[in-house]
Amino acid sequence: MKVTIVGAGNVGATCADAIATQRIASEVVLLDIKEGFAEGKALDMMQTATTLGFNTKIVGTTNDYSKTANSDVVVITSGIPRKPGMTREELIGINAGIVQSVAENILAHSPDAIIVVVSNPMDTMTYLTLKKTGLPKNRIIGMGGALDSSRFKTYLSLALDKPANDIHGMVIGGHGDTTMIPLTRLASYNGIPVSSLLEEDALKQVAADTMVGGATLTKLLGTSAWYAPGASVAYLVDSILNDQKRIIPCSVYLEGEYRQEDICIGVPCVIGRSGWESIVDVNLNEEEQATFEKSATAVRNMNAALDSILS
Ligand code: NAI
Ligand code: 2OP
Repeated sequence: MKVTIVGAGNVGATCADAIATQRIASEVVLLDIKEGFAEGKALDMMQTATTLGFNTKIVGTTNDYSKTANSDVVVITSGIPRKPGMTREELIGINAGIVQSVAENILAHSPDAIIVVVSNPMDTMTYLTLKKTGLPKNRIIGMGGALDSSRFKTYLSLALDKPANDIHGMVIGGHGDTTMIPLTRLASYNGIPVSSLLEEDALKQVAADTMVGGATLTKLLGTSAWYAPGASVAYLVDSILNDQKRIIPCSVYLEGEYRQEDICIGVPCVIGRSGWESIVDVNLNEEEQATFEKSATAVRNMNAALDSILS
């Protein structure tokens, strides 16, 4: 099983490391435009293999796409990250050009790959990738909901003072500070609804902290986060390569599901060897559906910035 990660920066390298140390794939190729950067990261990681006990081969390359040939999954993290005060949306102009050319190069060498889009604004970049490549919709997956859900579960575990792994919860909608939707009504601690364990104000605070989870880290770090993003991509890649059929909220192309059409936005998906295999309907109540519709409108407004690129 071969995975290519385009962009050997913070998220790409962390993801490569997680895939190797968790033995998710037999080969990982890291590709970057910065001369020697991906080669250096790959070599450094390979030198942890004997101490950490993995056999994954990690190859680095400066822009040589022939090394990515026949990848099963390709993760696109290339682009610029947020700086403090910047929204994900402000990245659109630069990242659209990068994502588009990367997707073309990738498909020339791995025509059957499943593409995971990470670069921001992620929902719009996923839509762009789908429209520009013309690939079957199930092979294009935007990663954002896995990360947002893991932040949600972390904040819930802190509020409840219970282990994070005993918490279940999902974040759907757009991957943006004002567009994501933590589904507090459906979150649970070992099957017990969290709404019966936390006061309403505490639950609202958890949702608010989740929504600005990325911005909080960007402010602290001076750039956007990478440990949880890299781990979330690896979790998704594992479900694809090892056909785990995990339900993961992902940004995928909707054709009527959740009452939306012609948009990529986060919904719960079954993720397996053929990409996203089905969309799970969690029966949103009226208020949640209305929030989802607002989120979709915001994502659509962002997609409108692509009009000149797509026409
Ligand atoms: P970074 O700056 O550390 O790494 C980006 C890398 O992409 C750099 O090494 C750069 O040289 C490379 N690059 C730029 N143009 C390229 C090209 N044409 N071909 C190959 N490589 C190219 O940034 P970081 O923190 O890794 O973030 C990457 C992207 O992921 C950003 O757009 C960021 O906003 C996004 N992100 C998305 C998340 C999500 O949940 N969807 C979470 C975290 C970050
Ligand atoms: C994050 O959520 C900025 O999308 C990036 O950390």
